[in-house]
Amino acid sequence: MPSLREIYKQNVGQTSEWSMMLAVDHAQDCYVYTVDGRQYIDLNSGISVSSLGHSNPAVIKAIQDQASKHLHTMVYGEHIQEPQVAFAKLLLSQLPEQYNSLYYLLTGSEAIEAAMKLCRKVTNRFEIVACRNAYHGSTQGAESLRSDHEYAMHFAPLVPGVKHINYNIDADLNRITSHTAGVIIEPVQAESGINPPQNDYLRKVEARCKEVGALFVLDEIQTGFGRTGQLFAHQKYGVTPDIFCIGKAMGGGLPLSGIVSSQQLLSAFIKNPALGHITTFGGHPLSCAAANASLNYLLNNEIIDHVSSKEAYIKSRLSGHNIVSEVRSSGLMLAVEVTRKKYLKHVVSKAIDLGVLVDYFLFNDKSFRVAPPLVIEDDVLAEGMDRLVAALDFAEARYQK
Ligand SMILES: Cc1ncc(COP(=O)(O)O)c(C=O)c1O
Repeated sequence: MPSLREIYKQNVGQTSEWSMMLAVDHAQDCYVYTVDGRQYIDLNSGISVSSLGHSNPAVIKAIQDQASKHLHTMVYGEHIQEPQVAFAKLLLSQLPEQYNSLYYLLTGSEAIEAAMKLCRKVTNRFEIVACRNAYHGSTQGAESLRSDHEYAMHFAPLVPGVKHINYNIDADLNRITSHTAGVIIEPVQAESGINPPQNDYLRKVEARCKEVGALFVLDEIQTGFGRTGQLFAHQKYGVTPDIFCIGKAMGGGLPLSGIVSSQQLLSAFIKNPALGHITTFGGHPLSCAAANASLNYLLNNEIIDHVSSKEAYIKSRLSGHNIVSEVRSSGLMLAVEVTRKKYLKHVVSKAIDLGVLVDYFLFNDKSFRVAPPLVIEDDVLAEGMDRLVAALDFAEARYQK
């Protein structure tokens, strides 16, 4: 009989020839279990999605309760659905007054698309500024924000009017001008290998946007919901974006995204034309029920308070290793950089062999990603670090020459 992996390869669309190919059976807490009976410590969180680990009972119960009431009843915006209302109210209660509206969407890419449209409509300008080595999603608009020409040329022509600047480089800020509709930027650049803002960079971007009348948009899709040690990274770095995009951990493991802003800005989607951005599954009731349970759990269990001590522990375990040149981080999003490129794939594949899930970045060929669930227990984290150190030792011993 063909294995699940073989049936998968024959029938399911693939994204690359080098995927991890773990055949998942189930996942619980900070572990993923495969059909061959192996247990893996999850230090990826499905790329910053599973912040509460897997199968959190409160989230599962909320999903089950909602499933027994109703699933989809109508496209977003037409029916009032209690889980949408409850989550928006809870989220906005955690934010300053100017954030008084949450527009629901489905994926991170869709949130970026909606933010791009909103910037253009509200300012009546055309140009969007984004950073080199940023990743904002794979739809045509979001992809246009990616500066990697070698990659993007295969999908040309991309959405026009996008200008790129270098992240963390003050001298580029004067490229944001009175023609700029909006600047869309990650508060911590993730896929370039975790680069936090330096020297008050985000405050300078914010000030420049104010000066020229451009909207300041933060992509908090990866950084949101506690990942950096505050509920949102803009709080950590002391800025107030006009709009911020959320997704990933938002839905507690179910697909959900949104943009948070003021009612005034978001009303641009209501008139001239009405239905300015519509989405069938945005704010799906199951996802909103899961999001509500997940955020309640995050806020009521002092989870975010422990992010920085776990970050410090990971750094203390990995920084001094012979083949580690640097560990960059913002909370529990970390990049471990190895001294030579050739080590990288051996460390990552050995780690997976040893039962610990880590991953590559899109735009950094010397670093691997460590982003455990925020709830990871100390002993599980310690075991994960033991295995990672063993993977680094292995690569050092075997591939030094
Ligand atoms: C910072 C950031 N923005 C946007 C996206 C796109 O989100 P999605 O894959 O849900 O469309 C991602 C996905 O990795 C991301 O990391």
